Amino acid sequence: MQETHKHLWWQREIIYQIYPRSFQDSNGDGIGDLNGIKQRLDYLQWLGIKAVWISPIYPSPMADFGYDIADYEDIHPIFGSMEDFDTLLNEVHSRGMKLILDFVPNHTSDQHPWFLASQSSRNNPMRDWYIWKDPKEDGSPPNNWLSVFGGSGWEWDEKTGQYYYHGFLKEQPDLNWRNKEVQEAMFNVMRFWLDKGVDGFRVDVMWHMIKDDQFRDNPKNPHYEEHMATYNKLLPVYSTDQPEVHGIVSRMRQVLDEYDERMMIGEIYLPLDKLMTYYGYERKGAHLPFNFLLLSVPWDSQVIASAIDEYEGALPTEGWPNWVLGNHDQTRIASRVGWGQAKVAAMLLLTLRGTPTVYYGEEIGMRDIPIPFEEVQDPQGLNMPDKNLSRDPARTPMHWDGGENAGFTTAKPWLRLDRMSHKINVEAQREDKYSFLSLYRRMISLRQQELSLMVGNYTPVYSDNQIIAFVRELEGHHRFLIVLNLSHRPCYYKPHDLELEGVVEVATYPELEGTYVKGTIILGGDEGIVVRIK
Ligand code: GLC
Repeated sequence: MQETHKHLWWQREIIYQIYPRSFQDSNGDGIGDLNGIKQRLDYLQWLGIKAVWISPIYPSPMADFGYDIADYEDIHPIFGSMEDFDTLLNEVHSRGMKLILDFVPNHTSDQHPWFLASQSSRNNPMRDWYIWKDPKEDGSPPNNWLSVFGGSGWEWDEKTGQYYYHGFLKEQPDLNWRNKEVQEAMFNVMRFWLDKGVDGFRVDVMWHMIKDDQFRDNPKNPHYEEHMATYNKLLPVYSTDQPEVHGIVSRMRQVLDEYDERMMIGEIYLPLDKLMTYYGYERKGAHLPFNFLLLSVPWDSQVIASAIDEYEGALPTEGWPNWVLGNHDQTRIASRVGWGQAKVAAMLLLTLRGTPTVYYGEEIGMRDIPIPFEEVQDPQGLNMPDKNLSRDPARTPMHWDGGENAGFTTAKPWLRLDRMSHKINVEAQREDKYSFLSLYRRMISLRQQELSLMVGNYTPVYSDNQIIAFVRELEGHHRFLIVLNLSHRPCYYKPHDLELEGVVEVATYPELEGTYVKGTIILGGDEGIVVRIK
């Protein structure tokens, strides 16, 4: 087991994302909470999960469901108390698990005392903590920057006669990261949680943190189409991904490095070459700049096969890879590619080289749930009602059992549940070897037992218009061939330059498990196999 020592926990383990409002309600208010998460740690352990990322749990007016923070160093009463948090953290650690929190440095809530002070007068010492600008001569906003959630990125403040900038909601004013006091205050927020023993942060919209110091207009996006969010009308080349952001990220990294084995994942939606720069100079940036490739490419075997290789090829030396199929902002994988392919996707996620992130519910095949217009809660959905951009469908409560409200709550859930939760749930899938959950569990267990899969090399061996095949290996350990059929039709794979002989360890359809493979591999539609080869 020597090789594992070379790798740190965030390279070895699978990260499981919990959207706390929707995981488990423990106090009957229809909203998930920290004690609910604690009750479900047994489940996560049973599944083989050892690292959990929880989306924001801090005091917040909930204009953007917790991504608008009014106090960085406390817990929202909806989720519990600081004592509940400490207990949860203890419980997580006593099971040998790790806890990652969401850190939202780009913006605060407009109710944060810092913003209230900043807004109170032009002379307030905190005025410069946010981005205030005079109007143009005609009274219009200082430039054309747009908000991700629709409309202008500038909000007029009548009282002090200036605009402030918000890349997201007007209730989420952007901090001015060029200000040294802001930097120090935020680094201290990190220390507050690190001192408690938190193992790392997922850093929200990392690439937004610093803006062009001349505030130049963003150019038009020549590829804009009507169905897209209005934000995409412009290319945010001056409002995001500025060179100075890397200085900030490396300072954050220094804060983490004051402690042992802490880590940071950066949320970054950028093309590959730019994404890679977030590993930082000499890898002193983010440990894992989130890799959202599998969320953005069409579900096509050849496109995906080449995207994987482009990513592997672009990684800096010793930059550790990572893979994601879904999160609280994106369509769930089962809704994007269908249930058949979602199992193939799971196999891909858990066999590629690098840290996988599993979004809660993915492991039971949860899909996006249609939310009637009058029940939409997500501001992105409400602000652009004709574009079907609400993120609510991917945020519905977890299905634990077949009972009313799926064992999530005893009250009315904050978002409606899938009508099929009585069929699609943890209890129903636990003992069913054909279920998503069993597949996830078998895959996770194999991945965590076999060093080749956990930390071994990745070598692509074949791809065509149906198949992706690759090998994972590590000297002195078993070798594995992964063959995935990304189509619904049968496929045939005859390895040319690979002596193929081995045993199927895990298959999307369990009948194949334990079978001996030699020569040509024949797979049914939506089938994938992991073969231990000689
Ligand atoms: C990130 C979060 C998203 C949030 C936004 C603004 O993209 O994942 O949920 O709305 O940042 O904080």
